[in-house]
Amino acid sequence: MEPILFLITIFLGFAFSGKCSDVYSRNDFPEGFVFGSGISAFQWEGAVDEDGRMPSIWDTYVHSQAGPTGDVACDGYHKYKEDVRLMYDMGLGALRLSISWPRLIPSGRGPVNPKGLRFYKNLLNELTRHGIEPHVTLYHDDLPQALEDEYGGWIDRRIIDDFTAFADVCFREFGNTVKFWTTINEPNMLAWGGYDLGFMPPKHCSPPYAMVKCSRGNSSTEPYIALHNMLLAHASTSRLYKQKYKDKQNGSLGITCYAYWMVPLTSSGEDEIATRRAKDFYLGWVLHPLVFGDYPDVMKRIVGKRLPSFSDEESDLVKDSFDFLGIIHYTTMNIAHLSTSRQGDFTSDMNASMSNFGKSTFVTIDVLPWGLEGVLEYIKQNYGNPPVYILENGRPTNHHSSLNDVGRVEYLHAYIAAVLNSVRNGSQTRGYFQWSFMDLYEFLNYNYTYGLYYVNFSDPERKRSPKTSALWYSALLKGSMVSSQVAKNLSVSSSPGYASQ
Ligand SMILES: *[C@@H]1O[C@H](CO)[C@@H](O)[C@H](O)[C@H]1NC(C)=O
Ligand SMILES: *[C@@H]1O[C@H](CO)[C@@H](O)[C@H](O)[C@H]1NC(C)=O
Ligand SMILES: *[C@@H]1O[C@H](CO)[C@@H](O)[C@H](O)[C@H]1NC(C)=O
Ligand SMILES: *[C@@H]1O[C@H](CO)[C@@H](O)[C@H](O)[C@H]1NC(C)=O
Ligand SMILES: *[C@@H]1O[C@H](CO)[C@@H](O)[C@H](O)[C@H]1NC(C)=O
Ligand SMILES: *[C@@H]1O[C@H](CO)[C@@H](O)[C@H](O)[C@H]1NC(C)=O
Ligand SMILES: *[C@@H]1O[C@H](CO)[C@@H](O)[C@H](O)[C@H]1NC(C)=O
Repeated sequence: MEPILFLITIFLGFAFSGKCSDVYSRNDFPEGFVFGSGISAFQWEGAVDEDGRMPSIWDTYVHSQAGPTGDVACDGYHKYKEDVRLMYDMGLGALRLSISWPRLIPSGRGPVNPKGLRFYKNLLNELTRHGIEPHVTLYHDDLPQALEDEYGGWIDRRIIDDFTAFADVCFREFGNTVKFWTTINEPNMLAWGGYDLGFMPPKHCSPPYAMVKCSRGNSSTEPYIALHNMLLAHASTSRLYKQKYKDKQNGSLGITCYAYWMVPLTSSGEDEIATRRAKDFYLGWVLHPLVFGDYPDVMKRIVGKRLPSFSDEESDLVKDSFDFLGIIHYTTMNIAHLSTSRQGDFTSDMNASMSNFGKSTFVTIDVLPWGLEGVLEYIKQNYGNPPVYILENGRPTNHHSSLNDVGRVEYLHAYIAAVLNSVRNGSQTRGYFQWSFMDLYEFLNYNYTYGLYYVNFSDPERKRSPKTSALWYSALLKGSMVSSQVAKNLSVSSSPGYASQ
């Protein structure tokens, strides 16, 4: 691997010495700007019932229906050394990963699992030994099932203390190695998908709002309660970190927001107002409390009593409880005004319908880099221009399509250029993490994956093979000038079996 990448890097250096305007290198970014890639525990580790790990709500969810599971996934639990080596060879400076709560504290609260602790220490040491900075997410959608069973997980305030105690263990045990902590992955998407529409774990919802049939839930109230408790758990964790660890460990802590960019479907006044409202509902739901200590006015007005309120003390706790914002961005949505006869879940409260922009679908997404610029500019102008890390951005492709993934290269090239434009226009974006380092167990199946590396999920060895995008990203990481055209000359030869389908 290494010699091939090396040759390509040299070649690129000659071929693209800043000729056209879509050509850039990492040296165009501010000093210290981080380029990384991401994985998450459930999607990568497998080994779901090994060494004391107990089920999470995600395990329960995938086992409740037909189709593939995350039981083995990439088998990262056993292959982490090999994977860290691939990351090192690629030139990765940072890895976004998560810690599985039910592996570290299997019952959600109480005793630490020594084998889980050992695994994460080994993994983190392996990364730092190779000069790869870990950016750790504490909660990536994998709540211990025990807490869901005991009190309903995020809809009960008891989650605040349990989450804070889990974070305490992580800070204490890993804080000498980890300098970048993210508390919760995409809280707005978890609350909407998991407690209103119901298609995500823990599958809470109620008719007539839901997309699926759920055995429990209340789509009118639970999304708001769940998100409220996520914000309070985040804020409580942030206070703990400041009081007990920050001075000693010199790290920083943030939270993420799932950020579609949104544009009006038509130029009608109604659609424009609906777009503003949708931004307040979807982004402001998380960002407004973090920056101003309360929900947006429009949400308070429309949702009324169903929206939990912050006490003065809670408001102070939540406000400014982050050192950086993690942004998760894939695509742009069209927003249309929605007059719905039913009023009473997150979607209908928003009075807006979302549809894919252009030819995008749920699993195939267009290259719309201005959408990422829109998000970053919106955060800069409306939320005080905080430090931002893009913690996920990438393009899915059919898992069985060619290793020569020029479409992914085109996307990454355009979106990283968009980040550069935003940074040049004053956004405090400090890092970019491509999603994902390798093909992972993606939402519900392995059909559409985001990896720079192909993973053969039919192979007991889970063999990894670089795609063209891996070579392209490596060229960027190692300092070459890159253009999307480079992909044509980088293409990996597709061995038999990878032929596009
Ligand atoms: C949801 O909760 C609200 C407020 O407690 C209640 O009025 C409503 O009937 C509940 N809906 C369902 C489907 O349980
Ligand atoms: C703390 O971190 C900052 C930024 O990462 C670094 O510049 C500084 O030298 C560190 N200080 C200590 C005492 O480690
Ligand atoms: C949302 O739709 C309902 C039902 O049609 C309507 O009563 C309400 O005025 C709408 N709200 C907004 C902000 O458009
Ligand atoms: C650049 O920043 C300025 C000042 O914040 C803003 O007015 C302008 O719209 C931004 N340009 C773009 C392309 O976002
Ligand atoms: C994934 O692909 C398999 C095999 O091609 C197919 O049977 C299944 O329906 C697909 N699942 C989804 C959710 O598209
Ligand atoms: C994946 O692995 C299986 C089992 O080893 C093998 O038969 C198949 O050819 C492999 N597929 C690819 C695309 O390499
Ligand atoms: C690709 O390689 C060919 C032959 O080596 C060269 O002529 C061409 O300029 C290269 N194009 C790009 C975009 O690198």
